[in-house]
Amino acid sequence: MTAPSQPATTIALASPRALRGEVRVPGDKSISHRAALLNAIAHGSAEVANYAPGDDCRSTLSCLQRLGVAIEVAGGGRVRVQGQGLDGLREPAEVLDCGNSGTTVRLLAGLLASRPFLSILSGDGSLRSRPMARVVEPLRQMGASIWGRDRDRLAPLAIRGGQLQGLTYRTPVASAQVKSAVLLAGLGADGPTEVIEPAPSRDHTERMLAAMGARVALAPGVVRLEPTERLQPLSLTVPGDFSSAAFWLAAACLHPDASVVVRGVGLNPGRTGLLAVLEQMGARVRVEQPRLDGGEPVGDLVAESSALRAVDIGGATIPSLVDELPLLAVLACFARGTTRVRDAAELRYKESDRIAAMAAQLTRLGARIHEHPDGWTIEGPTRLQPAEVDSAGDHRVAMALAVAGLAGSGVTIQRADCVSISYPGFWADAAILGAQVHA
Ligand code: S3P
Repeated sequence: MTAPSQPATTIALASPRALRGEVRVPGDKSISHRAALLNAIAHGSAEVANYAPGDDCRSTLSCLQRLGVAIEVAGGGRVRVQGQGLDGLREPAEVLDCGNSGTTVRLLAGLLASRPFLSILSGDGSLRSRPMARVVEPLRQMGASIWGRDRDRLAPLAIRGGQLQGLTYRTPVASAQVKSAVLLAGLGADGPTEVIEPAPSRDHTERMLAAMGARVALAPGVVRLEPTERLQPLSLTVPGDFSSAAFWLAAACLHPDASVVVRGVGLNPGRTGLLAVLEQMGARVRVEQPRLDGGEPVGDLVAESSALRAVDIGGATIPSLVDELPLLAVLACFARGTTRVRDAAELRYKESDRIAAMAAQLTRLGARIHEHPDGWTIEGPTRLQPAEVDSAGDHRVAMALAVAGLAGSGVTIQRADCVSISYPGFWADAAILGAQVHA
């Protein structure tokens, strides 16, 4: 059989003889969330093309609809958002269900902190176990009335919005979600807001705010925003998600007979740290037709079978490849030498504890991986063995394990349907490239 039309809980993959072809990955998840949220508070109508098809970005749309924003979802990833200004948002009659999406809950918390009504934000079991004090604290410093479960550490969050003051905030972690929450609150504050990060995180919010006419000043690791009454709507085509393309780049590098092209991928430098690391590892990956699209750099990516060597990474590089670290753990299993990943404790607070999940599941496949509080040590190369593994319900863990199976000797993945969070067509694309996918 090839690609299943319905998601299945368990997926078995055999390693194909060759991995070849061309795919287009879904629209970027981070940019899609922001395009919906910011256009919802702009004055006028915008059309967002190639809006990310996964469950996370659908959660953002349904929360905005509950806040009274008119949104039309047409076929082919086209979303029309009718912005009525920040003042156009209305008190929701129900709890805002953010599903599995950290970006939805944290960015909405910032946006709603200045709105004069009550909002309750919640989500699934994973989201309700992720840290929220990181947004509650700065929003309170701005004057927001916001509470959460477990002494304000966990969702559900309750917000009764009101007048906020501008703030200069030094974030303890490099997090685009925290930075964006503070900036979105700052839009409705009575003075300028500044966020200073320990290392630069992805900058999609500030790029988009600037493109919509907000007064934003940028320096590496520092953003300053003046309160902004009117945002202009921004129609855009969302570039392909580098974090989704990364799975195919890695699979192609690791498979002995592979050549894969991924077209139209976003190449914002805050997101493409994996490209530099792959180069350091000796990977045959190149960017073709680099161009600018909607203010974001975009290009086609080509990856081929490669002999990889180990790397040592940490420090300020981590935020630029934070979502690719589970995949880097897989790459390291095939690379010659000892790979060390440090300073990545943030991985423990993602959709699952990704440090623990990857260590446990790769061990089942025969990897030599040792878990640290802030990362892993991985010895390579290892011939991975087929085994049954569990995704922990985490989309990026599921797809990283799929790459391990495609490049190794096959794998059976339980709870594999969670790929729908960011990449509903993942198994179909695996089949396009030559994989046998058994549901
Ligand atoms: C995201 C920021 C990152 C990233 C997440 C998406 C965003 O999280 O891991 O997948 O869209 O702002 P943190 O801000 O928690 O680092």
